[in-house]
Amino acid sequence: MSSKVESKTGKAEKRGTASPSSEKRRVLVCCALPYTNAVPHVGNIVGSHLPADIFARYCRLKGYETLLIGGADENGTPTEVAAIELKVTPKRLTDVFYKVHKMIYDWFEISYDNFSRTSLPVHHKTTQDLFLKIYEKGYITKGVMRQPYCETDKLFLADRYVVGKCPVCGYEFARGDQCENCATLLEPEQLINPRCKIDGSAPVFKDSDNLFLEREKLQPSLETWILSQKHWRKQVSSIALAWIKEGLRKRSITRDLKWGVPVPLKGFEDKIFYVWFDAPIGYISSTKEWAERSGNPDKWKDYWLDPKTRIYNFLGKDNIPFHTIFWPGMLMANGDYNLPYDVVGLQYCNYEGDKISKSRNWGIFCEKVVESGLDPDIWRYYLAYLIPETKDSEFKWDDFQTRINNELVAAIGNFVHRTLTFASNFLGGVVERKELGDEERQVESKVLQQVAEADSALQDVRLKDALRNVLQVAIIGNEYFQKNQPWVLIKEDPERCKLVIYTCVNICRVIAVTMAPFLPSSSARISGLLDLKGALSWEGELKFSLETVTMKAKPEILFKKIDDKEVVRLKSIVTKSSDAAEFFNS
Ligand code: 2FM
Ligand code: ZN
Repeated sequence: MSSKVESKTGKAEKRGTASPSSEKRRVLVCCALPYTNAVPHVGNIVGSHLPADIFARYCRLKGYETLLIGGADENGTPTEVAAIELKVTPKRLTDVFYKVHKMIYDWFEISYDNFSRTSLPVHHKTTQDLFLKIYEKGYITKGVMRQPYCETDKLFLADRYVVGKCPVCGYEFARGDQCENCATLLEPEQLINPRCKIDGSAPVFKDSDNLFLEREKLQPSLETWILSQKHWRKQVSSIALAWIKEGLRKRSITRDLKWGVPVPLKGFEDKIFYVWFDAPIGYISSTKEWAERSGNPDKWKDYWLDPKTRIYNFLGKDNIPFHTIFWPGMLMANGDYNLPYDVVGLQYCNYEGDKISKSRNWGIFCEKVVESGLDPDIWRYYLAYLIPETKDSEFKWDDFQTRINNELVAAIGNFVHRTLTFASNFLGGVVERKELGDEERQVESKVLQQVAEADSALQDVRLKDALRNVLQVAIIGNEYFQKNQPWVLIKEDPERCKLVIYTCVNICRVIAVTMAPFLPSSSARISGLLDLKGALSWEGELKFSLETVTMKAKPEILFKKIDDKEVVRLKSIVTKSSDAAEFFNS
């Protein structure tokens, strides 16, 4: 069942029903595979891993059969170039950076069911098989491609490692595959004054035999498919349709490099696949690896072959064309697998008025965040607020401090803490089940309204709207607590006092459930303290119907205020990016 609704973004969307249906929904959440040629910064967390995680956690809470899949994009030029720069082998580079990436995502509590590597045999085999089927079906042609070659580095350069002036908008630093400024897709030879990104020399263009995916043959099916995706974000559909309008041309899928997936075709054995051909196949191979590990090797098929599964892709703005055209085109040509259900293409997150840049040391760098000594949930709260859903966002320290102090600490943390402290100090930690009175029913209905809004926002992947609803629940709770003054009632009307605290504990449970996708550890602390167990699920409406609660321990403060001194301390740690060479010293 689905319904047409007008969302807060003003977009007509087809929305799945928020109430539990008899058939369990199955959801595969795929996060764009980061290149392991560098260490992620907060923009990478905000732009794909965190939103994918929040959405996957929500789906699990709803009782959907859910998998969060990701991995490291380890092949092709990005790796070969970084290996040259760092004077290590591609193997060593990817081994080291894979561990760093994994450690960072684990620290941020990104709940990957599997975080794989595209250098693994399962990925090579999956890519080669998928290719062979496309080849057999007649979507691949042979041809000659002129490729930029750097005489200094003795390397064919991938498109993005050639920079020059954009022939369309004149931007000086356009990449050979795409201009970041005007989003036009380019070929390196179209650039004015092309230069090798590694050493700045002018590349020479050499001919070599290559394989091409005949995307023009796929254009009609892709166009029909894109036009039928009414639930996609406007910015995603319009980028995809702009490509279609321009007319799809064949695109080369092989490269003259060594580090990557070998091409299993006579005459092409010394080439590898273009990194953007093999990377998205990583979603499938990562699912296969997960299935293998979980002892049910065929289980991946439920996610990729059963058309009832909904696949959600989370990715940054520059990845949108690949996920709306190139990847679905490959899947259509192959014909075996599910297409994405939603392509959640996000915008960029900037830092204090400018683009995040590692080379300019401008931003917040994850390898330092993990050393900050600040609870991951505090970072997650502000970073969730920064998810660039419809437009670019910006990390600002004063905003960070204000939102943590005024929202997370003063509203959410304070409400939960004052409720639980009161229950512990005055009710001996036992909150009896009570019949709600009129006022409590009104509060319940206001809270459930927020829950319903959060639910429907999360169904639409409007994560920030849902976080606002969680905050609103705490504000409602604080108002009710303040108005009823339980510290007075305990002396004057102990029975009513118990009802007030029972109501507040129910609100705490609503907060614990609805905040769980955003702040998993804090949610677990609340539910552990209240011994919520099965009540920590979003399968129902979250009515105020808890059985008597016996608290497990004395409550501790959930979140601490961040004062000016703490901001200075944090800033001095997290804004200094490491030199990549440091990771290879041992
Ligand atoms: O932009 C990037 O970091 C790419 N490595 C994303 C690949 S997404 C997918 F295809 F795996
Ligand atoms: Zn341009």
